[in-house]
Amino acid sequence: MKTASTFRELTREPRVEVTLDGEKLCLPDGANLAAALLVAGVTTFRKTPVSDTPRGPFCMMGTCFDCLVEIDGVARQACMLNVRAGLAIIRLPDAQVPNAET
Ligand code: FES
Repeated sequence: MKTASTFRELTREPRVEVTLDGEKLCLPDGANLAAALLVAGVTTFRKTPVSDTPRGPFCMMGTCFDCLVEIDGVARQACMLNVRAGLAIIRLPDAQVPNAET
């Protein structure tokens, strides 16, 4: 779900185009992917497999796995990636954390 963000961008980097669940987004090139998505108003990155609870970035340092998204067919932690042109990001409906690849 995309909502109005409470986060603000500190610098204005050149934008590159990515897709999120097939929708185009322009994000700052080279920015932390989780932070860039939060600034863009994306707060739900995945849902838990048991209770279907929405999850979003929490630790921002690769520990909690709440920022898992699928990129190029692989579950990845968004907080450990940088934005680059052409990323095809898919939110995981029921991410299985043990299968995540970093
Ligand atoms: S925000 Fe915790 S692993 Fe990415």
